[in-house]
Amino acid sequence: DLSPVEKAKFVAAKQACAMVQDGMKLGLGTGSTAEWLVRCLGEMVRGEGLRIQAVPTSARTADLAREQGIEVISLEEAGWLDLTIDGADEFDGDLNLIKGGGAALLHEKIVATASDRMVVIADATKQVETLGAFPLPVEVIPFGWQATKVLIEETLVGLDVLGREVALREKDGAPVRTDEGNFVLDLHLKRIGNARQLGLVLNQVPGVVENGLFVDICDAVVIGHGDGRVETRD
Ligand code: A5P
Repeated sequence: DLSPVEKAKFVAAKQACAMVQDGMKLGLGTGSTAEWLVRCLGEMVRGEGLRIQAVPTSARTADLAREQGIEVISLEEAGWLDLTIDGADEFDGDLNLIKGGGAALLHEKIVATASDRMVVIADATKQVETLGAFPLPVEVIPFGWQATKVLIEETLVGLDVLGREVALREKDGAPVRTDEGNFVLDLHLKRIGNARQLGLVLNQVPGVVENGLFVDICDAVVIGHGDGRVETRD
């Protein structure tokens, strides 16, 4: 028995599985919604003989994919991907996204942009009018991260955002490390007026590796509802 939000994630993932065809090279996202996808694909591989090769966006997803019997390859081996399916923390009406709640944003963005198509699977609570209620994750190099934080705070002045608090993401009193060994700063912006501009200027700050804004990357969002309904936006 699933809670409404888990059911919503499950039906979205299930629907997205129908987009996967035999022989595809697939990017696999990270997070609780993407986990449903990987389980669903695992069933298709084991039960229906579906042949796919998958590039996971995190160590977590790689472990789960292997456990599910899915062939895991590196992006280098794949070269290019047919389709990436991933979750998101927020999406807006233009299909722009905030990602990185699970700290996998760098690999997620590399994999998504190395794909012919990116499809997001999400429960309806992820849909927003304007991005920014979810703190924007920014992956930074540990060296001099405090200086990078100050530079980001200065950069935010004069930009179309409501909040300017920047916080180092920590767990058990230590900085969270990404799969690349970097830190994550969470930008509490409340409202992002111009996602494209913000994404560009953030990546100009020395020490910033990548930010969690996905602008013009996502091609479709499969939205699941708690009552089992699914709708697709593209
Ligand atoms: C991982 O870094 C994120 O981009 C995830 O895609 C995002 O956090 C969605 O996770 P859930 O599916 O668990 O909400």
